[in-house]
This record gives sequence, C-alpha cells and structure tokens, in this order.
Amino acid sequence: MNETTRIPSHVAIIMDGNGRWARRRGKERYEGHMAGMDALRATVRNAAEYGVRYLTVYAFSTENWGRPQQEVDALMHLICKGVEMETPGLIEQSVRVRILGDKSRFSKEVLESLDRIESRTAAGTRMTLVLALNYSSRSELTAAVRTLASRAAAGEIAPDQITEQTISESLYTAGMPDPDLVIRTSGEYRLSNFLLWQASYAEFYFTDTLWPDFDKAEFEKAMQAYAARDRRYGLVREGEPGNDE
Ligand code: IPE
Ligand code: IPE
Ligand code: MG
Repeated sequence: MNETTRIPSHVAIIMDGNGRWARRRGKERYEGHMAGMDALRATVRNAAEYGVRYLTVYAFSTENWGRPQQEVDALMHLICKGVEMETPGLIEQSVRVRILGDKSRFSKEVLESLDRIESRTAAGTRMTLVLALNYSSRSELTAAVRTLASRAAAGEIAPDQITEQTISESLYTAGMPDPDLVIRTSGEYRLSNFLLWQASYAEFYFTDTLWPDFDKAEFEKAMQAYAARDRRYGLVREGEPGNDE
C-alpha cells in the first residue's frame, strides 16, 4: 500500500448528534443544526486539503420529514441559507456540489436553491461535495428496480442483462465511486438507510463525538484510522505470515 492508496477517495459521513449537542448546552435543536453547518464547512475544507475526491454527507433523510414541523422548517430554512452563504467559498475552493436524493418533495424555494448551487459550482474539479437530501437507500434501490423492470418489460433489455453494473448505473449515485470510508458521529452504530448498496466494501469509523464538535483533529483521527485498515475484499494477502505455506 503506498501513500496515495491510504487516502480514501470517497468519504461518506452520517452527520449525527446536532440535537444532543444543543440540548446539552440548554439550546434549541435548530441551534445544533446551525453549529453542524459550521462543522460541515470545516470538514469540506479539511477533506479537500487532504486530497479526498468525493465527500458525501447525509444531511436529511426521508425519515426526517417525520420530525416536528418546526424542526423540519428550520432545517429547510438552513439548507436554503447555507446554500446561498456557502456557494462563493465552494467556488473559490473548486468544489462541485451534487444533490443525492428525491428532490420532488422539496418546496419550490428549496428546489431552486439546490439547482442554483449545482449549476453555480459545476466547474469545480478539486472535490465533489454530495449532499444527501431527502435520501433513502431503500427508495433509491426501489426506483432502480422499477427502472430496470420497465426497461425489461418494454423489451429494451433481457433480464440476464441486469448486472451489478447496470444496477449501480441506475442508482442516484451513478457515475460516482463507492465510498471507501463511512463515518458516523454521536456514538450510534447504524446506517439509518444510507448507501446500503454502495457501502458494501466500505470501511466504517464510529466516534462518540457529536457532529458539531467534529473538528480538524477528529477528521485527521478518522483518516489515520482508515490508513491503518487492511482492505482485503475477501482475499488473502500473500507474503503475510501464515499465508505462504
Ligand atoms: C443529525 O443530528 C442531523 C439531522 C438528522 C438532520 P440529529 O438532529 O439527528 O441529532 P440527534 O441525533 O437528535 O442528537
Ligand atoms: C441519520 O440520522 C440521518 C442524518 C444524519 C441526516 P438520524 O438521527 O435521523 O438517524 P436515527 O434516527 O438515529 O437512525
Ligand atoms: Mg440523530
């Protein structure tokens, strides 16, 4: 393994713990989301400087619509505001933004913000920041199955032409590499409907740190943990003790 392979090219983060961070300080949950936005801004910078090519962040799950309306409204407002405030900095860093998820459920205002940030940052080549919004891995897979079934029913493809590749190409993540590393903050050990297909061979890193406290030192700790992992993909590594005889 050389130095470059130790840098994950795609890092995916489940940014969890904003609410608890706020509550522990006697603040409202939305203040935790605002602090989470600061942590995201710093992480984008840290990841780009580190040489990460894709950074995918889980910002709003399909299940999150079920939260109190006041919190959902605050999150939607924060998305619009964040998109507007952060766009110049992202352009300056040559970071391209791509939205991952079902956009059809957003209000016209949110949708316009999302379309605007995608088009304004389209020339970015240093890193792609993928914002998972109204994302659900099961919905994504269901939509992919529907697409492929319709094509088969229409006689465009035979069932045996459905391969791992055609499935990958039918997901929202089409054209993106699979995540090398999935990080979840706040001491929870679950995927919560995030990148189920894509994370098949990802490394996982869990930390008790709440998302708003995820700073440069925490990011570097995760990168160091990844660098120490031995990704075997089901194989045995020759030359290692016990594997030669
Ligand atoms: C993650 O923080 C952000 C979103 C889900 C939008 P939470 O809001 O889930 O924070 P906790 O888990 O309640 O602390
Ligand atoms: C996952 O966090 C979704 C995001 C970080 C956007 P949640 O807080 O919604 O997930 P659960 O409820 O702990 O599974
Ligand atoms: Mg949570």
